[in-house]
Amino acid sequence: MTRTRIFIREVNNMRLPLKMQSRTRSIRNYPTGYNEIVDMSNNLQHVRPTEDIPGPKALPLIGNLFRFLPYIGEYYNVNVLTFMRMLHNKYGNIVKFDGLKKQPSIFLFCPELCKNMYQLQGKIPMRIAMEPLHNYRKSRKDIYKGQYGLTTSQGESWKDFRSKVGPHMMRPNIVKTHATQIHDITSEFVDKMSTLRDPKTLELPDDFMNELYKWSVETMCLIALNYRMGCLKSNLAVDSEPQIMINCVKEMFNLTYRIENVPSLLKISHTRNYQKLFRALDQINVISAKYIEYAKNNISKSRDNTNRDYSILEKLLCIDKQVALVMALDILMSTDTTSNAAGALLYYIANNKEKQDKLREEVMSVLPDKTTPITHDLLEKIPYVRGCIKECMRLFPIANGILRNMPKDVSLGGYLIPKGANVMACHAVLSMDPKYFARPMEYIPERWIRDSPEFLLYRSTHTHAYMPFGYGVRACIGQRFAEMELEMLLLKVIRNFRIEWHYGPLEHESQIVNTVKSPLRFKLIDL
Ligand code: HEM
Repeated sequence: MTRTRIFIREVNNMRLPLKMQSRTRSIRNYPTGYNEIVDMSNNLQHVRPTEDIPGPKALPLIGNLFRFLPYIGEYYNVNVLTFMRMLHNKYGNIVKFDGLKKQPSIFLFCPELCKNMYQLQGKIPMRIAMEPLHNYRKSRKDIYKGQYGLTTSQGESWKDFRSKVGPHMMRPNIVKTHATQIHDITSEFVDKMSTLRDPKTLELPDDFMNELYKWSVETMCLIALNYRMGCLKSNLAVDSEPQIMINCVKEMFNLTYRIENVPSLLKISHTRNYQKLFRALDQINVISAKYIEYAKNNISKSRDNTNRDYSILEKLLCIDKQVALVMALDILMSTDTTSNAAGALLYYIANNKEKQDKLREEVMSVLPDKTTPITHDLLEKIPYVRGCIKECMRLFPIANGILRNMPKDVSLGGYLIPKGANVMACHAVLSMDPKYFARPMEYIPERWIRDSPEFLLYRSTHTHAYMPFGYGVRACIGQRFAEMELEMLLLKVIRNFRIEWHYGPLEHESQIVNTVKSPLRFKLIDL
């Protein structure tokens, strides 16, 4: 009981009795020190009730929604990251917020609590999100046949699907087979960047983010469908297949977010958004099914060449056509993540000249010639490039937090967390917290590089303070692909241009993922 109380005080940043302060000094400096007082028994006997978790109190009938209203709401018009920081500053390391979803939402702002959350998530972690997408999948029984893919399915159905596709999506040898194709798309894209510049100012256009988006759709189509869709071509006709694909993937994100998160007082607009979402998803399905069928027909021919490595799609087709289709749709879902990470990455490099110079030294050493192809093996020799990407994901995490729904009643931070509660490990807040990352707002890629003196800035942190791809068996399945795409892009851009930024700090918007809001008017000077 006493241990539980002590922990509750600590997680809520309360003052500890004097006799306890020496014991916790190390906790302040080194967050890993929490270990000694964490209630790992998960004994529910002495926990405090869920209602005691600090947080804004919900009013009868209207709950907490008024807090988001203009004039009266303290959270009106604040983005998700700011909202989380406000909760953390006011209420401490564990916060309850009612009314966002049916089940209570619990926000965690301490790495040790996040670690506990992952320990308590169970063997088959649940992440109940993107309900509109799931509703679509359930309604199209003919396509999905009870297999709803990774993003939205739960329980045994998720486990079964993940165990089928996981080995193929994550095995380095298979990811490697796509290196040349991703390289070719990226080279083409970087050539296009030259032509997109304003001839006088050498700046990219306001909507360059849209171009990054097309690069990402083209890459994802290639991985999922083994087909070059042609999204990078200029002046695409409105009714061309690549343009339809680009529009539909974009609609899928916007509408899923709007339906799920923007309270719709008008039922009719809600229904319309659902109809639009279903239409967009139907179109993506039709196009995807066509190319999967095409790949299936070609598979027997290409199998004659026994020395060839097989693509992801070919591997998945060997399991069955339907798994390949469902996985393709999950892969296409990830377009927004990589394109926004790429936009933010270029910003940090453009905005930090000294780091860019250092980066270029490494790039020149592996690519003495502009036309040297970037092989998968070459990607093993670029620690600074990797440091730059990691540091970008720390300052511009694509997901603000990782959601888990508790499989049963559990004790977390000394409180009872009921079965099904939405528990959010708020990594985006932690990765910029000075407690865990010294000089947190500075872009310091060196902190990720072992031989560098700045590595110390990272070494004293907590492993659960930074999780841009999630954690555990339900972590991002496309991490290797995302990293490969970003590495290729950075290598190519830095080898071809000096990149400059002459505007204010990068602005972002929080939707399903954090997205870049500022027009990306990078100035590119040929090398
Ligand atoms: C910078 C790029 C990316 C970031 C930051 C990112 C981040 C994430 C995060 C945070 C999750 C949730 C993990 C968890 O709950 O523990 C996730 C899940 C997922 N990601 Fe990514 N992702 C990226 C790119 C990709 C790519 C390129 C693909 C596909 C090729 C992909 C496919 C998926 C899938 C299918 C899931 C659901 C996994 C499951 O529930 O089993 N992601 N991603």
